[in-house]
Amino acid sequence: MTARVRTGVLISGRGSNLQALIDACAKADFPAEIACVISNVANVEGLALAERAGIATHVISHGGFRLREEFDMELDATLARAAVSLVCLAGFMRVLSDVFVEKWRGRLINIHPSLLPGFKGLDVHGRVLASGARISGCTVHFVVPELDSGPIIAQAAVPVLADDTEESLSTRTLAAEHRLYPHALKLLAETRVKLDGERAVFTNISDAEGTLINPPFD
Ligand code: GRF
Repeated sequence: MTARVRTGVLISGRGSNLQALIDACAKADFPAEIACVISNVANVEGLALAERAGIATHVISHGGFRLREEFDMELDATLARAAVSLVCLAGFMRVLSDVFVEKWRGRLINIHPSLLPGFKGLDVHGRVLASGARISGCTVHFVVPELDSGPIIAQAAVPVLADDTEESLSTRTLAAEHRLYPHALKLLAETRVKLDGERAVFTNISDAEGTLINPPFD
């Protein structure tokens, strides 16, 4: 097998998507490996998950920097030292500067708990319930300077049930996220998806792999 693509994961908290990526990378034929995990918040659960998996962790507290760009430069330097080629945002609760985003353009992806372009931003599940939508889901997309707006790599749908609460919808969506994110990272690491200008371009990919509804991801 060819070398695995070294990947950095940025987190701010719980790290359940990070764990899903760790589990995927543990499979012998997975095309990526997690070379480092960086959190902007100390002592979060996700850091412990990474340490348990033997992955190098770094805390870069944003409070220690005067400017957003300075924090992002430290982030960039840490990723460079870990020699990563791809970066996954996994619950990273910090807006990145345009300079950072442009530098990593096409190699920086995020997971969002809605079917984008609907329900960008925070507090997604409450807004989905209030809207009366009957289907929700999650999206992995390339990161561009505008929040939650980059070209879509993959999506998974989940039903919104009549008696759903924010918690039950979040739990169902998160289960889909945990399957979708490794799938999307695999497509990127295998260069079966690329960012070309403003579009995600796919090669050697079946329809079922691109648009996923209750999918058989594996
Ligand atoms: C997930 O819902 C993800 O979609 C969003 O933030 C949450 C992070 O959860 N961007 P976790 O830290 O991966 O458990």
